Amino acid sequence: MINWDEFEHIHVIQKLKSIINQWWNIETIFTDDRGKIRGFNREKHTFKNPAVRVILNKDKGCEDLSEFVRTSIEEFRVSDQKGKFLIKQWPQAGYDAALFPIVLDGEFMGSVVALGFFMDAVSADKINNMKDRLGAFGVHSSEIEQAATQIHPLKAEDASHFTELVDLVGQEVVTLHTEITSRETRINELNKELGIRYKYDNMIGKSKPMQDIYALLDKIKNSESTVLIQGENGTGKELIAKAIHYNSPRKDKTFVSQNCSAFNENLLDSELFGHVKGSFTGAIKDKKGLFEIADKGTFFLDEIGDTSPSMQVKLLRVIQEGTFIPVGATETRRVDVRILAATNRDLKSMVEKGQFREDLYYRINVINLRVPPLRERKEDIPLLVEYFLDHCAQEKNQKKKIMTKRALEKLYDFPWPGNIRELQNEIERLVVLAGEEQKLTADMLSPRLLDFGEKNKIQGARVHGKLKDALEELEREMIREGLRRTGWNKSKLAKELGISRAGLIMKVEKYGLDKRKLLK
Ligand SMILES: Nc1ncnc2c1ncn2[C@@H]1O[C@H](COP(=O)(O)OP(=O)(O)OP(=O)(O)O)[C@@H](O)[C@H]1O
Ligand SMILES: [Mg+2]
Repeated sequence: MINWDEFEHIHVIQKLKSIINQWWNIETIFTDDRGKIRGFNREKHTFKNPAVRVILNKDKGCEDLSEFVRTSIEEFRVSDQKGKFLIKQWPQAGYDAALFPIVLDGEFMGSVVALGFFMDAVSADKINNMKDRLGAFGVHSSEIEQAATQIHPLKAEDASHFTELVDLVGQEVVTLHTEITSRETRINELNKELGIRYKYDNMIGKSKPMQDIYALLDKIKNSESTVLIQGENGTGKELIAKAIHYNSPRKDKTFVSQNCSAFNENLLDSELFGHVKGSFTGAIKDKKGLFEIADKGTFFLDEIGDTSPSMQVKLLRVIQEGTFIPVGATETRRVDVRILAATNRDLKSMVEKGQFREDLYYRINVINLRVPPLRERKEDIPLLVEYFLDHCAQEKNQKKKIMTKRALEKLYDFPWPGNIRELQNEIERLVVLAGEEQKLTADMLSPRLLDFGEKNKIQGARVHGKLKDALEELEREMIREGLRRTGWNKSKLAKELGISRAGLIMKVEKYGLDKRKLLK
């Protein structure tokens, strides 16, 4: 997403705006893709042109302007009008405005709006109309009179200079935005070069939380311990269970997965432990239970939090002693299985409330693996999107589709309550919807995603903060790693990172990466 607040403080942009203002008494503002005014703080900002100030000081005025910009730009875009901008009267204000759409990668990102002037000559009619309009906004008559004296016609010979300057403001936004994003891309590339893992079996992710999970998986690869995998729906618990099995010495034996909430008590019983012929109606022959099938392999107990008290007792016995009794049998049987369990519930608090056996809890919670929700590792979203796009393309035997930048940004802003599964479904839906279309654009996204951005501007800001933190952390890691690798050769590392030596030294200080401290 374009960070309008940032651009407002860029020197060239400020300068251009102030020239436009001084020469023609015209105000220049930004609006986002929906026409919302962006990039200035109303409490602090003063417009010099009173005809603009009196309207934009009012909520109603800002809303009307948004609506005007939104509909005008929409008409402009669908019409096959040539040119980069349009100049027309803002009917609610009675004066004219010039609208310049900002387009990036073929996607409409927002606009630069210059307003508070009359194209060509000023007539008494125009002035009177404007006064009426300002009056309708509840502007005081003395202010209206003052506004009328300070609104000027834009002469034909000035018009081309004016549009060039406003266009330049828009171009600056595009250039700077592109620069910022390419810097981010560069960081990502460097990231790969540094050998950060972004994949573990079928698991994708390069965020810090995922790196931690990979490291833990490496550690427990050869262990026989029971692992409890906890995480929200769709975070990849089953994927992790499989990764544990397929990287363990048991990998050539069976991996059995059973959802503990899927069956009623009796069926689950016979499913897990098997039964002997005649033990209940329908038991026409002996049947092996899943525990026996998993012998020497791994048993994954999914949704362990949903098991009944009596089932908990039976599970405890298999885990503790490796023995169980098939339904209807009299003798115990013995198996050698490694147990993995998963749940999206808070087992600990269930134990405290007496809903889950404490002894079973401690038995399965030997190693605890918490899978973070997607919203805590948003930096993995672009990677996951690419992965799922690849996947869809292969499955459908199509060319891989392209997600536009803005669509990706919308995906980034969304909190993903259904986590990776929800993201995966969204991508699959997009690919189907797109049909022959190669580009996946923001307007194709599910309504809940599009609406979210509108309702949660504050949340958006927070996400931005997180991104900054993440980038800083990454930068710190890269520098630390690089210093070690190059034997503290700052000139060499600075070159590698594409920054100046002085810049690197400043960063080393900022992050406290002093040699003496690091070697301690
Ligand atoms: N890190 C990841 N990389 C790629 N795909 C993933 C990742 N995590 C999850 N997925 C995919 O998301 C979907 C959901 O994953 P999985 O079934 O393992 O989640 P879960 O935590 O067991 O969900 P639930 O709680 O709903 O049972 C699967 O299609 C899985 O392949
Ligand atoms: Mg699952």
